[in-house]
Amino acid sequence: MSNQKVVAITGASNGMGKAALELFAQQGWIVYGGARHVDNIPTGTNTHALYLDVTDDQSIVAFGQTILDEQHRIDVLINNAGYGENGPVEDTPMTHIRRQFDTNFFAAVALTQFFLPTMRAQHAGRVVNISSVGGDIYSPLGAYYHASKAALQQWSDTLDLEVEPFGIRSVVVQPGGTQSSWGSVARANIQKNLKPDTAYQSLVTFMTGVLDDDAPGMGASAQDLAQLFYRAATDVKPKRRYFNNFRDHLTVITARALPGIFRWSIKRSIDRAK
Ligand SMILES: NC(=O)c1ccc[n+]([C@@H]2O[C@H](COP(=O)([O-])OP(=O)(O)OC[C@H]3O[C@@H](n4cnc5c(N)ncnc54)[C@H](OP(=O)(O)O)[C@@H]3O)[C@@H](O)[C@H]2O)c1
Repeated sequence: MSNQKVVAITGASNGMGKAALELFAQQGWIVYGGARHVDNIPTGTNTHALYLDVTDDQSIVAFGQTILDEQHRIDVLINNAGYGENGPVEDTPMTHIRRQFDTNFFAAVALTQFFLPTMRAQHAGRVVNISSVGGDIYSPLGAYYHASKAALQQWSDTLDLEVEPFGIRSVVVQPGGTQSSWGSVARANIQKNLKPDTAYQSLVTFMTGVLDDDAPGMGASAQDLAQLFYRAATDVKPKRRYFNNFRDHLTVITARALPGIFRWSIKRSIDRAK
C-alpha cells in the first residue's frame, strides 16, 4: 500500500480550493477535489475530480465513499466550499438562508461525520475548516454569511476537544479579502435577495463597493491561501486559528476585544459613504 497522504478538498473548482488542490498535488499528496463544476477541477496522476454538491446528503456520501473505496484512508479533510448569501436580513428569503447554512456549515458537519470513524481507526487525521475573518467581524448585508462562519468556528473548537484524544485535530483558517469568484457571487446575491420595495438601497450601494474585486483589502491571492491551508493541514503542533497576515489577525482581535470601537468604525464608514 502507498504511504502517500490523502486529502479531500471541497470547492476545488475555483479560487482557494483549486489552488490548494494544485499545491497538495505538487507536494506529492493524493488529492480528491469535489465541486459541482467538476470539469473545472484540475486532474493529474494523483489528482482526482469528483462531482460534489455539498447541499445534497447523497452527493456527500458518494464523494466520501469513493475516496475510502479507492484509498482506504483519509488524512486531511478541507471543508472549503462556501459562498456569501448576502442581502438584507429582512429581505433575504428563508430558502436562501437555509442554503447558506447547508453549504457553509452543515456540509462540513456531514463530511466530518462521514470521515471521523476512519480517522479514529487510523488514530490520525485533521479537519481544516475554511471560515473567514467574517466569522468574527461583521458588516451590513452579510448577516447570514457571518452567522454561518461563526457557527463553523464554534463547532470546530468543540470538535477539536472531542477528537484530540483519538489523534485527530480540527482547525480553522480565516482568510481576509482574497481574489476569487467570492465577491462577484456575493454581489449578485445581494441583488437576488432584495425585495422590490427594499428599504435598504443605501446599504446596497455602500456594500457593493466594499465587495468589489478591486476594493482595497482584496489583496491576497488564492495561492497565498493555499499555502496557509497547507500549513494548517501539516503543522505538527496545529493552531486553533490560521491567518494569512497580521492585519487580518489584528482585525479579528480588535473586533473581539473592542466591540464598541469596531461597531463605531463600521458605522462611520457607512455614514461617510452617504
Ligand atoms: N475570497 C474571499 O475574499 C474569502 C474571504 C474569506 C473567506 N472565504 C471563504 O473561502 C472559501 C473559498 O472561497 P473562494 O474565495 O475560493 O470562492 P470561489 O472562488 O467562489 O470558490 C468557491 C468554491 O466553492 C464551491 N461551492 C460552492 N457551492 C458549492 C456546493 N453546493 N457544492 C460544492 N461546492 C460548492 C464552488 O464550486 P462549484 O460552484 O463548482 O460547486 C467553488 O469551487 C469559502 O468558504 C469562502 O467563504 C473567501
